Amino acid sequence: MPIYLIGMMGSGKTTIGKILSDILNKKYIDIDEKIEKNENMKIKEIFSQKGEEYFREMESRILEKTENEDAIISTGGGIILKEKNRKILKKHKTLFLYVPMEELIKRVEVKNRPLLKEGKEKLYEIWDKRKELYEEFEKINLSNLNPYESAAKLLYSILESAQEKIDNDFQNVVLKIKGLNDLKDKNNVFVNKDVYRIYNDKFNNVYILENGEKIKKIDNVKKIYKYLIKNNVGRNDTIYAVGGGTVTDLIGYIGATFKRGIKFQFYPTTLLSQVDASIGGKNAINFEGIKNVIGTFKVPNNVIIDPLTVISQKEENYLEGIIEAFKIAIINGNVSLFLNNIEKIKKRNLNLITDIIKYAVKVKLDIVTKDPFDNDIRKLLNLGHTLGHAFESYTGISHGLSVGWGIKKEIEFFSKEIKLKDKNIIFEFLEQIMPDDVLNKKININNLLEYIFQDKKIINKNKIDIPIIKNIGNVELKSIGLFLQ
Ligand SMILES: NC(=O)c1ccc[n+]([C@@H]2O[C@H](COP(=O)([O-])OP(=O)(O)OC[C@H]3O[C@@H](n4cnc5c(N)ncnc54)[C@H](O)[C@@H]3O)[C@@H](O)[C@H]2O)c1
Repeated sequence: MPIYLIGMMGSGKTTIGKILSDILNKKYIDIDEKIEKNENMKIKEIFSQKGEEYFREMESRILEKTENEDAIISTGGGIILKEKNRKILKKHKTLFLYVPMEELIKRVEVKNRPLLKEGKEKLYEIWDKRKELYEEFEKINLSNLNPYESAAKLLYSILESAQEKIDNDFQNVVLKIKGLNDLKDKNNVFVNKDVYRIYNDKFNNVYILENGEKIKKIDNVKKIYKYLIKNNVGRNDTIYAVGGGTVTDLIGYIGATFKRGIKFQFYPTTLLSQVDASIGGKNAINFEGIKNVIGTFKVPNNVIIDPLTVISQKEENYLEGIIEAFKIAIINGNVSLFLNNIEKIKKRNLNLITDIIKYAVKVKLDIVTKDPFDNDIRKLLNLGHTLGHAFESYTGISHGLSVGWGIKKEIEFFSKEIKLKDKNIIFEFLEQIMPDDVLNKKININNLLEYIFQDKKIINKNKIDIPIIKNIGNVELKSIGLFLQ
């Protein structure tokens, strides 16, 4: 089935079309590009040498030919001018990429745009002529969204909802395409600023939190307790956390403590929170500069993982989730899902992301079921975190990337028995997905010792408990002397 993208020039049809084709593993067709190829001329030259009407005829002919394609198809801005084109577009899924004029004017380049040869102001005139015709189609407002954020939003119109329960005895987890749509009629929804900016049409009544780690603080806990009291929230009500691990940790802590515990559900929206933070029942806030020092063990009443939200993540945050999922795979032993799909990982292929989520969640659930209170094998999940945390504190580099660095360094320092083949597999994967300047950052380990001493895994001043990779699939906790060099 073809999926057509229509909209004004500069609305992102080409960039977003290519991204969507990678995500959905579908062919990509750009009608303007096809015309240029057929005519062996730039659009500007076709307009000046053969005229606009000639161009429009070519456009209609190519449009007709695409009707049987299973592809994402970007169209030229003027395709909706002809009634016969609109008739074809209406037979299929066609999405109008709407970007307000003040934003379009900033984005659009005049190069190879024959209709703008007199200047960008001409855009207003073109919009006036075309707006009613565009409005005949399903309109998606992409104001203030970057290409990946736009792609995520469009996927809610392209895909059907689907859900699958992840079978386990520890906590309720559902993988649900378009899961965020559940929240429309809910109250007591707590959401990150950025998530709200992208998905605001999914909510009715929300409490908006800042982005990032700074929200996990006692001041916010107090504010939210007051909000819940003011809104008469009782033990039979449910509160909802929508965002990354910072939101699920904060709201989980509040859910576990307010009125001795009320119902709470997680809608984790980062890959890291989907495969890690929302699974296992640990909830915590930071205090006096110490991370996760006040917290509870209590599983949420439900976790609804919507993989579409991963598409809108910033590149670095997305990679952090991939690294945490890869860490889980090293512990469990099945790294092939990652090694065989590096290109698909980079292109955020949705089927692959869904498979990674399912796999990592199942492995983590298996581990936490055996050790719910973090006394034993659950500590294996700290792989890469001992040096990684210290590196994160010392350099300020984000958590997931620091863990990637930590996995590599911990192997170099502690994995004396690891087979060369396994070591190479891990290093090569990290090299392919991590920024080179982070993975190969040289740091004198002595500079990290101070941070390592503060780490909660310290047994005494000289020894730490640390997961050591013997081989892929064989990770063991060991007590290690701290004087590394
Ligand atoms: N409880 C646990 O077992 C556990 C396990 C691992 C990590 N954590 C905690 O999780 C936190 C880290 O979580 P995180 O990496 O999700 O960070 P985060 O919550 O700070 O999210 C990262 C950024 O992404 C933005 N964002 C969230 N969803 C988005 C989306 N769909 N599209 C675009 N942007 C989006 C957020 O606004 C934020 O700016 C840490 O506080 C850590 O301690 C807890």
